[in-house]
Amino acid sequence: MVTESGNKKITPESVGMSVEIAGITLKNPVITPSGTCGYGRDYLDFWSPEQLGAIAVKAVSVKPRDGNPPPRIAEIPSGVLNSIGLENPGVHKFISDELPWLKSIGATVIANVVGYTDDDYAECVGILDGTGVDMIELNISCPNVKGTPISASAERTEALTKRIKGVTKKPVIVKLSPNVTSITDIAKAAEAGGADALSLINTVMGMRINIKTRRPMLKNITGGMSGPAVFPLAVRMVWQTSNAVNIPIIGGGGITTAEDAVEMMMAGADAVSCGTAMFSDPSAPLKIIEGLRRWCSDNGVGSVRELTGSVVTG
Ligand SMILES: Cc1cc2nc3c(=O)[nH]c(=O)nc-3n(C[C@H](O)[C@H](O)[C@H](O)COP(=O)(O)O)c2cc1C
Repeated sequence: MVTESGNKKITPESVGMSVEIAGITLKNPVITPSGTCGYGRDYLDFWSPEQLGAIAVKAVSVKPRDGNPPPRIAEIPSGVLNSIGLENPGVHKFISDELPWLKSIGATVIANVVGYTDDDYAECVGILDGTGVDMIELNISCPNVKGTPISASAERTEALTKRIKGVTKKPVIVKLSPNVTSITDIAKAAEAGGADALSLINTVMGMRINIKTRRPMLKNITGGMSGPAVFPLAVRMVWQTSNAVNIPIIGGGGITTAEDAVEMMMAGADAVSCGTAMFSDPSAPLKIIEGLRRWCSDNGVGSVRELTGSVVTG
């Protein structure tokens, strides 16, 4: 269906797809979130990173990390439980082996950064500052590592964000955890620390038990849930967060279809991420991009930006 907006017909091709996150223009609002697509080569039979709004690569740390022992993936109804635990080859290997290719194909790259300490984060971001990555995403919210994540504390979130803003000129996205009592307190702390954008949600802490062996399904015992099972939780948290802060939000958690993406943007997201959906349909990100064009054209929406925060709650 072709709809009229003033004199101009809105067709799927004419829908404005670009969005802006922290001064960076993304060609469309669909991002693949960290840890679900490696460093960009994993899905080349289905899509290439430059077709997306951006690719958030697997977490990097100063030194290589092994992650947690297997088994570290278990199925849950409508999703997965993972305890990968930030396995990565280290930031230097990412910069030498992965980043040049990603930049050569024209991808917009979000580097997801982790550390054991604030010093680790600062060192890793300092190293990335001199490279071609477009944005830094502080992963302060992984539920699969020892200790309490920084994202559980407003004070620690604000302090780390402030420190990181002092070591890089690149836009800093803070990735929030759903495993908190008040997502808005943490979001406001990140904003107060100078975050340029927020992304949410990271995975939801969960656990499964094999009742025959009476043993946890994951060696790590607990893991993080993702996929459609967490979608309503993510929509609620994005909505609450968008009402609490004035910085852009990348909203994700369980997005599987273009309609889910529309819903997440209506809740307040400026861009969306789609990760676990690729485990059952590797083409999901491209289908969402095309589906967004169609949905907007069918519903008289000239630009995806019009969707952001358009939920009517009154
Ligand atoms: C196997 C796996 C590995 C992940 N690794 C990371 C990671 O390294 N850094 C991070 O910030 N989030 C990581 N995540 C969380 C995702 O980026 C995303 O926030 C979460 O899965 C919710 O989105 P989804 O339901 O669309 O997958 C991982 C998720 C999965 C399933």
